[in-house]
Amino acid sequence: MVSLTVKNLISIADLSTKEILTILDLAEKMESIIHGPKPSTLLAGKILASLFYEPSTRTRLSFESAMARLGGSTITVADISASSVAKGESLADTIRTVDNYADVIVLRHPQEGAAQWAAEVSKVPVVNAGDGAGRHPTQTLLDLSTIRKSQGRLENLNIAVLGDLRFGRTVHSLSYAITRFTKRLYCISPPGLELPDEIVMDLKEQGKEVIETTDLKGILPELDVLYATRIQKERFPTPADYEKVRGVFRIDKAMLEGVKSNLDILHPLPRVDEIAPEIDETPYARYFTQMFQGVLVRMAILSLLLEVNTK
Ligand code: NCD
Repeated sequence: MVSLTVKNLISIADLSTKEILTILDLAEKMESIIHGPKPSTLLAGKILASLFYEPSTRTRLSFESAMARLGGSTITVADISASSVAKGESLADTIRTVDNYADVIVLRHPQEGAAQWAAEVSKVPVVNAGDGAGRHPTQTLLDLSTIRKSQGRLENLNIAVLGDLRFGRTVHSLSYAITRFTKRLYCISPPGLELPDEIVMDLKEQGKEVIETTDLKGILPELDVLYATRIQKERFPTPADYEKVRGVFRIDKAMLEGVKSNLDILHPLPRVDEIAPEIDETPYARYFTQMFQGVLVRMAILSLLLEVNTK
């Protein structure tokens, strides 16, 4: 039986490279469940609690879909402001309540570190579905799964992360994960939104090459993967600060002349104006298939954390 050494999934650092690959392999097998003739009962009787203190479409629905695909069920707080949080209940008390009702908790919270605190008080596994500008490990696993499926490998790819590298939690997790497989990471951001120093230093200490540039056009022809992200409007002190950097980088069809034929453009979504809709029909757009990988990867994560026998 395959299993993980950790009880919770808070950060990519919780997983060995072997465990990452185990999750991706298991996710691949999950496709036959979705398309198979009989509904799965792998997680029958298991309950997932989805607690989202910040907006979500894909992460929340794909976790709930993953649970349903495996025969489990979900309880949820439809609107967190209609829960006891509005009465001033602490996150710790909410978790100590919900862990009586569910076998696994999926948490999204605006504060960095929230998932870790939740895991410290929870009796059941906690999955970090985004903690402020911190981490988003399950997004990264689905990103890796998308890249591996499309490129056929994770090793030796030229990958660039683009956009809000400062507040974007998806790129924080992805930077750590993808460089387990590649030597170099290109980072392209508007001024002031660079990848946090702590992450750059960690990567350099591991012998990785972090190339920070604003010359998107210049490096595009080198790339196998371009990972675009939204400017995280909600994390800016004032709307004026956001306006200064919005729309600085926008990918359109004309820019893609001369790119490698195997280029994959990924985006965790939602997009605002980073990728022109005309890109959607090109062979480079991977952001819609990415969402399907999200369900498969979350099916794999849930079954591993709930320790059911996936063989
Ligand atoms: C991302 C997030 O919430 O961090 N969305 C997602 O989970 N697919 C990216 C974003 O909101 O920009």
